[in-house]
Amino acid sequence: MNKSKLRHLLACVAFMGVCSTSAQNTLPVNIIPQPVQMEQTKGIFVLPQKIVIAYDSSLSEQAKYLQDILAQSTARVAVLKEGKTKGDIVLTTDATGQMKAESYTLSVTPKGVKIVGADISGAFYGIQSLLQLFPAEIYSKSWERDTQWQAPCVEISDAPERPWRGMMLDVARYFYDKEFVKKYIDMMAMYKMNKLQFHLIDDSGWRLEIKKYPRLTEVGAWAGPEEKRLGGYYTQDDIREMVAYAKVRGVELVPEIEFPAHILSAVVAYPWLSCTGVQHELPTQHFISRDLLCAGKETSLQFLRDVLEETVELFPSSYINIGGDEAVYVRWEQCPDCQALMKREGLKKASDIQGYLTNVVAKMMKEKGRTVIGWDEIIQRGKIDEPVVALSWHHVTDSLRATKTGHKAILTPASHMYLDFPEVKIPGEVQAAGWYPPITLEKCYSMPVNDYSEQSTVIGVQGCFWSDQFIHGTVLQEIACLNENRSENYAEYFTFPRLLAISEVAWQKQSRRNWEDFRTRIGTHYERLDYKVCHYRLPQPRIVKEEKQADGSINFTLACDVPGAVIRYNTDGKYPTVRSALYTGPINVAKRDDLRAMIVKTNTQYSLPLYFAPDYSAYKAYGEHVFAWEPLRVQPKPSNWRFEVTGKVNDNGTYELTVIPTRGDNSVQLGTLKLWKRNELMAEIKATHTVKAGDSPVTYRFTLDQFEAGTPFHIELQGHAPQGNNTSGMMFLKKL
Ligand code: ACM
Ligand code: ZN
Repeated sequence: MNKSKLRHLLACVAFMGVCSTSAQNTLPVNIIPQPVQMEQTKGIFVLPQKIVIAYDSSLSEQAKYLQDILAQSTARVAVLKEGKTKGDIVLTTDATGQMKAESYTLSVTPKGVKIVGADISGAFYGIQSLLQLFPAEIYSKSWERDTQWQAPCVEISDAPERPWRGMMLDVARYFYDKEFVKKYIDMMAMYKMNKLQFHLIDDSGWRLEIKKYPRLTEVGAWAGPEEKRLGGYYTQDDIREMVAYAKVRGVELVPEIEFPAHILSAVVAYPWLSCTGVQHELPTQHFISRDLLCAGKETSLQFLRDVLEETVELFPSSYINIGGDEAVYVRWEQCPDCQALMKREGLKKASDIQGYLTNVVAKMMKEKGRTVIGWDEIIQRGKIDEPVVALSWHHVTDSLRATKTGHKAILTPASHMYLDFPEVKIPGEVQAAGWYPPITLEKCYSMPVNDYSEQSTVIGVQGCFWSDQFIHGTVLQEIACLNENRSENYAEYFTFPRLLAISEVAWQKQSRRNWEDFRTRIGTHYERLDYKVCHYRLPQPRIVKEEKQADGSINFTLACDVPGAVIRYNTDGKYPTVRSALYTGPINVAKRDDLRAMIVKTNTQYSLPLYFAPDYSAYKAYGEHVFAWEPLRVQPKPSNWRFEVTGKVNDNGTYELTVIPTRGDNSVQLGTLKLWKRNELMAEIKATHTVKAGDSPVTYRFTLDQFEAGTPFHIELQGHAPQGNNTSGMMFLKKL
């Protein structure tokens, strides 16, 4: 039995629930996103040695796309027959005009394959579903000579629930070259996602060639010293190439031209764009500048018009994204030109200038037949006259705000859709955004979104992949099994497999979502991602049962959600390796921490081990655990303990830090507490306390009034022990 056949058989055994409903001789079907209607019929389709692909002339690029894939992995000759309706694979578009946009039907019988798309995108999605029916090797870039090229017979009728199924890629914080962007587009298309928000501009880099303003890319695209400069940009030809590549795959490339904030890279190139005219340097670390585009100077407004003019020429997308997030208005408040503009236009607050600018641009875009889209701040800064689309990134419920203002919304709440957050926060996981809790695959999949109708305010869902964590390519913490310290691999590791969850959230009605079913299907996609050379994150073993025994020990039953992989484990609390004991059934351990188990796919592909966080539930009244000190961290002379509180400080308000000494003979002396927002001092509490184990806890109370989402916070607390370091303790933080 060959490799592929064996794998299919194993898959059938592993997923009895999926396979048992269909005839014994059929192959498993695990399409993502789940089709709306699917019937698995009897039999299989065997790809012939010579394949005839017949197609409507409107589908020539999609036919070629399929031909290339088949040629690479199957090494079979696929003959294209334009305008014909007879072939092994027939691609057509609907002649009746009755089908819903982007929908398709796919019929696979032993005699052949027929795909009817409502439009080009629909036909392309039919091809994607077909590819997902073949063995994973279908995506291989080289000939897979041992694979049996067969697909189960199905009748599928499928259509997306929502018109916007997006991803955002932040190429400004880290410049991903055009080959990587194409790969990202290709991976999106594999899962029927259709909009890529191209975050081209931010404080740390300008990535789009603008002919009228060459310094934007000569200067604004490069950080660091000349000889070691970091960055890059896309030429206008690169953009045209990427747009064309995306179009074949049904993906619209939506450019994001950020203003009024996040535009330091332009100000570095042309200091006259800002209110102050001060010359800055491009930051080499993550940084959000206070500088805004000066709205009061005609030269700055002309710049905006010129940049948008060239952008519209380059991107055929019906949407132009104008960013608009996170502006702080101090510069406009202090600028005579901006103040004069406010007077002229009767604007009451400096923030109203943003609404004024949005109106100017929305009108200009309307004249060019485009719709403005931007972060949800754009509909919160005064009345916007033209209909715009708001990306709700703060809270899921913010789409309600759009309803009330007559605009549309796309849901991309940071709590579920920001893929720069890790899946878990445990030792060994890559260092990542921390201003919200981690986003597991299941949480991503649980994103609430109402069903869609033509009247819906919410037009879709979008995942966002920010590159703050790899600013100019710096990976803060490496993951051994990614092998290579390349930011591109990390970008994939963060994006996959969560993109698959987002694709299903976007494609399917919420009422049809089924986490257990999805978890089973996604297991079979890891191998597909391998053939696409995609560096995804492998899940950890799943705890199916945890049973306390009479003697106090614990029995763990584990599951491996990756077909073909195994679980390896240790019961002595040590990090497992690819050669640790093989899991074959329930394991007994004296205590939870003794169990360390991981999924091993190959010698270089393995998951993080299971990790049980220390149990602080007895201290719940003091808030969340933020820091622990052990003797090694205690100095004899006054010094600072520094610890992250990002995510635990999550809004303006009053907070209490509680310090609890737990062990040791010596006392510790506590001094001043400082709360920092990145490098800005937010609060300082001067105090002195001498405490030792057994004493009452010490509390520090402080108030924050300049909270900023997405910005790291940390605390410094003076702590030392003049009599020696024999002391331990812990600290908790609570919002009052
Ligand atoms: C954002 O996360 N600043 C849109
Ligand atoms: Zn100004």
